[in-house]
Amino acid sequence: MLSMPEYLEQIDATRDERMKWWREARFGIFVHFGLYAQIGRNEWVQTCENIPVSEYEHLAQTFSPKEGCCREWAAMAKKAGAKYMVLTTRHHEGFSLWDSKANPFNSVNYGPHRDIVKEFVEACRENDLKIGFYSSLMDWHHPDGGKCAYDAEARARFTKYIRDLNEELLTQYGKIDILWYDVPEPFQHAEGWDSLARNQYLRSLQPHIIINDRSRIPEDFGTPEEHLTPSERDWEACMTFNGISWGYIDSEQAAPYSYTPQRILGMLQTCCERGGNLLLNFGPMPDGSVPKEVIEPLTKVGEWLKVNGEAVYGKLTKTYGNTNQGNAVSRPTTKGNTVYMWNKIWTPYKGTMSLGGFQTCPKAVTLIDGTPIDFELRGSRIILKNVPEENPDPILHVPLIKIEFDETPKYRFASYFPQLHQGRPSDTEIL
Ligand code: GLC
Repeated sequence: MLSMPEYLEQIDATRDERMKWWREARFGIFVHFGLYAQIGRNEWVQTCENIPVSEYEHLAQTFSPKEGCCREWAAMAKKAGAKYMVLTTRHHEGFSLWDSKANPFNSVNYGPHRDIVKEFVEACRENDLKIGFYSSLMDWHHPDGGKCAYDAEARARFTKYIRDLNEELLTQYGKIDILWYDVPEPFQHAEGWDSLARNQYLRSLQPHIIINDRSRIPEDFGTPEEHLTPSERDWEACMTFNGISWGYIDSEQAAPYSYTPQRILGMLQTCCERGGNLLLNFGPMPDGSVPKEVIEPLTKVGEWLKVNGEAVYGKLTKTYGNTNQGNAVSRPTTKGNTVYMWNKIWTPYKGTMSLGGFQTCPKAVTLIDGTPIDFELRGSRIILKNVPEENPDPILHVPLIKIEFDETPKYRFASYFPQLHQGRPSDTEIL
């Protein structure tokens, strides 16, 4: 077994190759599905409401996802323009959605008597989506799940259980692309979890796998939750669809809290500009259907991405920092020498629009369909002329302006006082 420094060095060395597809994919769909969907009060219902295990267990009898539900999820994800999907194979409630030997509390022994993980994997493959397995470390059902914190024998049993579960997941379903751990409680260090040994072993089973940062080892990528905060390393923002719950909650009541397609595009743009991915969640209904407040926005986002996807997929440049190219209602994503300006609001004023911060003259400026736009570099801004009065994006009214340069464009640093700085020799020489 490698020591921690050796292990970290080894995974660093293979990361670029392993994560190439992920870095270009940008958009994934998270699916939180479990017994809790039946109650509809968030996937933490068991602990938040102090429901005893013996009572909670009954939900396994009535859990009845319909045949083909995983296909519906995968078709939805594909239609939305997502490139990968991550399923909660077992959430904190401890119910495994697969034919597990290590955990008899599972969907083959109870409820539907089906291997949902297998169906999920097949559905992803049919739709050409990369496959992610969410795997909780915390377990509220296993008798050692809490006791392991202070009882050495319980710890030994529990860490073996966790290892066995993940071994099953990574040996029974062919190639799996992402292992997405969650909530490493009660242990505060990788040692408690035996994460170093387990992750090394799991990587030996799936050498191309990408692992997130929630097993108390930083591994491959960070996971900001419910916010889009960038970091130096690879990161993926995971977002609920409504700010209330990852698991299903009543559709009618969730709808007003749920994201519109424009909000989803806004998040995607922010992630792309800041060098991250977006993992957008939905919680299927108790019968496994995709909730209706999710279908329409995701469908629209997919339609938009079909036309505008070049601003999202592929090798983008992280530009977020002290430059401020664009304006307060238009933000960029950048690929090579091309900048795509996402116009959340279309703002012609007397036939012109203006984008601040640029110091390089473009080679060409067009709409996404190739319609040319007249332009001029004036000072540190691009003036666009004769722009159409009508918002040119019929799908979501978020049109892109494509700005091509001959070289990597130069930017002016953002400044609160543009007039004061005009005569200054260099943007960096501020006393
Ligand atoms: C959490 C929660 C959880 C959810 C997850 C997604 O930490 O415990 O219910 O699955 O984050 O990121």
